Amino acid sequence: MAQKKRPKKATRSHPAKNKQQRKKIGVKRKRKPSSARWLARQDKDIYVHAAQHEGYRSRAAYKLIELDDRFHIFKPGQRVVDLGAAPGSWTQVAVSRVHADTPGGGRVLAVDLKFLDPVRGALILTKDVLEENSISEIRTILEGPADVVLSDMAAPSTGHRKTDALRVMTLCEGALDVAKTVLSPGGCFVVKVLKVGAEINLVKSLKKEFVGVRHAKPPASRSDSSESYVVATDFRG
Ligand SMILES: C[S@@+](CC[C@H](N)C(=O)[O-])C[C@H]1O[C@@H](n2cnc3c(N)ncnc32)[C@H](O)[C@@H]1O
Repeated sequence: MAQKKRPKKATRSHPAKNKQQRKKIGVKRKRKPSSARWLARQDKDIYVHAAQHEGYRSRAAYKLIELDDRFHIFKPGQRVVDLGAAPGSWTQVAVSRVHADTPGGGRVLAVDLKFLDPVRGALILTKDVLEENSISEIRTILEGPADVVLSDMAAPSTGHRKTDALRVMTLCEGALDVAKTVLSPGGCFVVKVLKVGAEINLVKSLKKEFVGVRHAKPPASRSDSSESYVVATDFRG
């Protein structure tokens, strides 16, 4: 018996929706206004161009460079833990400032939830810093106390300022727990905060643990962002 032909299923996809087909026939995908604005801003940004030119993975590298130029955070030979390291530009800066890529130089451990492409001279741990056993893993890999703990950790924005600030604060507290456990006396802790008032308690805790606690908004940090950094020096131990 001849089989009845099934009617073709209605398909909602445009014939040129496939990326390769679009490329072939020259159809450009319409950008959302927000991503068009983002691209325009990136195009004008001197730090984006400098990062491309100097081989940094993101413009964020200049925030740490500017913080180090002002506060003298790094010295050659030091051990550094970089929390929330992906895509890795702070790690690149830390490696170069403590000479972790040369024999007898320092040691840099980059930690992130996300996979991080290898950075020459750095050790990488893919891990949630807030997980219970993260601190013991960090200590084991470091093979000794750290001189500097950096945290540029940030959670994806919810669009709600207070919720975002509280989420960042949880990350800051997690970073402080790491710092208190792994830093040697005299060590330094650099942490990103969102300045909306919720950071006051963190600063109070930092003042108990560190001799110097200073706020800084490096020029590379966008002026329309509420992000800021706290640089805590001379860990009491
Ligand atoms: C702004 S990016 C860091 C940029 C980085 N400093 C650089 O220069 O390339 C923030 C990072 O924090 C990471 N992060 C957020 N929560 C984390 C957590 N609980 N544990 C580890 N990493 C976390 C994110 O995955 C993200 O890669």
